Amino acid sequence: MCGIVGAVAQRDVAPILLEGLRRLEYRGYDSAGMAVLGPDGALQRLRAVGKVRSLADRLAREPIAGTTGVAHTRWATHGAPTENNAHPHVSGERVVVVHNGIIENHAELRAELEAAGYAFTSDTDTEVIAHLVHRELSGGSGLLAAVTAAVAVLRGAYALGVVSVDEPGRLVAARSGSPLVVGAGIGEHFIASDVGALLPVTQRFAFLEEGDVVDLGRDGFRVYNDGAAVERPVRTTELTADAVERGEYRHYMLKEIFEQPAAVAETLEGRLVDDRLLEESFGTTAPDIFDGVRSVHIIACGTSFHAGQVARYWLEGLAGVPCHVEVASEFRYRRPVVPADALFVAISQSGETADTLAALREARTLGYRATLAICNVPESSLVREADLVLMTRAGPEIGVASTKAFTTQLVALMLLTLALGRRHALDATSAAHLVRELRELPGRIEEVLGLNDEIRAIAERFTDKHHALFLGRGAHYPVAMEGALKLKEISYIHAEAYPAGELKHGPLALVDADMPVVAVAPNNELLEKLRSNLQEVRARGGELIVFADEHTGIQSGPGVEVLPVAPVHDAISPIVFTVPLQLLAYHAAVFKGTDVDQPRNLAKAVTVE
Ligand code: G6P
Repeated sequence: MCGIVGAVAQRDVAPILLEGLRRLEYRGYDSAGMAVLGPDGALQRLRAVGKVRSLADRLAREPIAGTTGVAHTRWATHGAPTENNAHPHVSGERVVVVHNGIIENHAELRAELEAAGYAFTSDTDTEVIAHLVHRELSGGSGLLAAVTAAVAVLRGAYALGVVSVDEPGRLVAARSGSPLVVGAGIGEHFIASDVGALLPVTQRFAFLEEGDVVDLGRDGFRVYNDGAAVERPVRTTELTADAVERGEYRHYMLKEIFEQPAAVAETLEGRLVDDRLLEESFGTTAPDIFDGVRSVHIIACGTSFHAGQVARYWLEGLAGVPCHVEVASEFRYRRPVVPADALFVAISQSGETADTLAALREARTLGYRATLAICNVPESSLVREADLVLMTRAGPEIGVASTKAFTTQLVALMLLTLALGRRHALDATSAAHLVRELRELPGRIEEVLGLNDEIRAIAERFTDKHHALFLGRGAHYPVAMEGALKLKEISYIHAEAYPAGELKHGPLALVDADMPVVAVAPNNELLEKLRSNLQEVRARGGELIVFADEHTGIQSGPGVEVLPVAPVHDAISPIVFTVPLQLLAYHAAVFKGTDVDQPRNLAKAVTVE
């Protein structure tokens, strides 16, 4: 999704803006641009289709410099990814705007502005904002008043930054529905879509809330909401610029896959005491709230949705609590029946996914017992708005394909299973056993990471493949779905996951020597059923790749490649079996030569519907 950076400083801000854009690249985008106000107040703008690197090349050839500026990476929504549609957008060589989000009433505003004589140079919804601010300035308003008046007529979602040649040294920004942070420096202030973009220049941040308008100058900033001045405290983040560096790894995705043992350990840190879960980890009111919970509704998107689907098997199978899981974009537009004493759980890595956030807000009006956010970004909107919160603590995840966020979400969901299970079907001995297994998990993940070289060798076979099937049963069916999602999003190989028992009801028709079939085979009560399903594939000439618990006895043979996974307790095995599927997708994508960390058309944080 679009990324925003802005700065008011005493030094040249072009390099700061450029580095900020580089750090926002992970969000996904297709063009980039920046505008700065030069020392003489002159407006200079550079835009380029494609990567931030192309913008950097242009900047090297046609340097621009100034102490106030805004920059943007654009993920096209209205209008193709062309230079004309790239941000910043200007009005009358006077006003400069960058925007993330969607202005839903842009067509009527555009008609109104065109009738008033404004000429549009792009197909974007954003350009209306530049002209609206220009119209206000022309009517005699200052920049703060002009932006405040302009946002008052906008419908939809936005985070935006505006500068004007009339008031160099000032940057006005606003947020409603899309993320925006303020970075505080000494004699310089910044805005950005996330903290990571500004870490090279500051570690001090204020987090804007819905409807905030912020007026930034070199020496400070003031925030207004609904016309009144409000306080947004400045907090120091523990993140450092290096936390989001790739280090020795070729891609962020690989780094993040290998960070999983540490990330999982971090998710558990301080939350288990002896063989027991510390329920206050979810918030001080959690024990009381959990006492009355009779069922769970989980809502999420993408990979986070798959985590919810695994949790359904745990919550019903281990905890004995009815659980329903749904994608957020469906939930928010239907009329769900909310049972008495249901807990609403929103899972999101970013905490800013538009549909998940909207679902949470909807849920707050529907009479749930409480809302719980399972999230990776502490200052995100989701975390701020939920009653209970369990942070996944995976650390910044940069690769668009989610990996460590998923496994840490699963750990968090297992903690929820423990909490609710103890009030329902889970006895103390079984709970203590699960806690011990969780403590072992980082080591188990470390062991499967040891399969990296063997998995790379297998992944090479996918180079000329166009389709793949993933099979799993029980809680490993959503794991297969996650494996298929990883493969399709980064290698562009069409991949589908099926519950192995469904094979005969359709997908078997597709199986031939050109269709690799990847199966996940834990050593559990469904093993014999799965074995039969694998036979069905072999009988049709399908090539099988099986990640199998060593104790299953499944052996490699003609057309069957088995990668043995060390034995692991059935409850946590979905977490362990996820890791080899991530590696398979990663290496397949590397062999295919795709842009692993920023796959085409995708975004890390989907802040529009
Ligand atoms: C995008 C990302 C996925 C992510 C999904 C949900 O599609 O590319 O990796 O799983 O959004 O994001 P969230 O931040 O809510 O978990």
